[in-house]
Amino acid sequence: MQIEGKTILITGASSGIGRSAADYLSSEGASVFALDRDLEGLKRLKINNESICYLQCDIEKSVSIDSVFQHLKAKNIAIDILINCAAIMYSSPIVKLQGGQLITHEYEDWEKVIGINLTGTFYVTSNVVKNMLSYRKEGLIINLSSICAQGNAGQSAYSASKAGVEGFSMALAKELGPLGIRTVILSPGFIDSPGMHQALAEKSVKKWNNLNPLRRLGLIDEVLKGMKMIIMNDYINGTIIKIDGGLTV
Ligand SMILES: NC(=O)c1ccc[n+]([C@@H]2O[C@H](COP(=O)([O-])OP(=O)(O)OC[C@H]3O[C@@H](n4cnc5c(N)ncnc54)[C@H](O)[C@@H]3O)[C@@H](O)[C@H]2O)c1
Repeated sequence: MQIEGKTILITGASSGIGRSAADYLSSEGASVFALDRDLEGLKRLKINNESICYLQCDIEKSVSIDSVFQHLKAKNIAIDILINCAAIMYSSPIVKLQGGQLITHEYEDWEKVIGINLTGTFYVTSNVVKNMLSYRKEGLIINLSSICAQGNAGQSAYSASKAGVEGFSMALAKELGPLGIRTVILSPGFIDSPGMHQALAEKSVKKWNNLNPLRRLGLIDEVLKGMKMIIMNDYINGTIIKIDGGLTV
């Protein structure tokens, strides 16, 4: 699939990988619809790149997603590619010692992480698939996972949400492949983005860099190169493309 001329919906487009993907894909000739709950971030994206359309959307809320798709339907917009980037990178041990007491991982925090990262991804995707099929389009869904899908200590909810995204994506690859829609999982290691620095203390970043065969963080640009390869190669479906410097080898 070529990038030029395609209509691409990107969630989590106010920051990090999603934001850079919006800029890059628009510069390659795609019409980009940028979604995020952070309206100020979307406005900054628009100031830098006039051609991008944005819609505020909180993917934790089904009504917010519904209103985006009502808008797209009213404007007769047919989506070719969906890139699900929106997520929160939440850390908490399953049980911690606090003031002499054992405190369990908050139920509400678990629900929030799963609600955004997995259920939000599911609901945006189901609406996009309906859009793609109603316009009889070939399509592509790229879901951002993480190497944490294999389980990262202190990030049980985040790890579970990303493992869920991977299972969901593989099911879609089988279900939608015969209908002309590919689904691919893009799984970065530790990437130099605002979200990663918010989620991890500098001490942890150093530790992960030392464990990485390449001894450094990945760059957003390196993730975008993987994204481009997934878009251009029409025979990649249902697989996990890792961009992690060899951390999981
Ligand atoms: N940066 C990394 O090291 C890394 C590693 C592995 C996987 N990932 C994955 O890549 C994706 C992008 O990560 P990033 O580093 O660019 O993160 P980021 O925090 O810089 O950007 C995430 C964006 O998602 C948006 N978002 C969060 N909750 C939302 C909601 N409920 N509704 C709508 N938007 C919401 C945020 O506002 C933000 O703009 C995520 O799925 C993340 O899990 C990142």
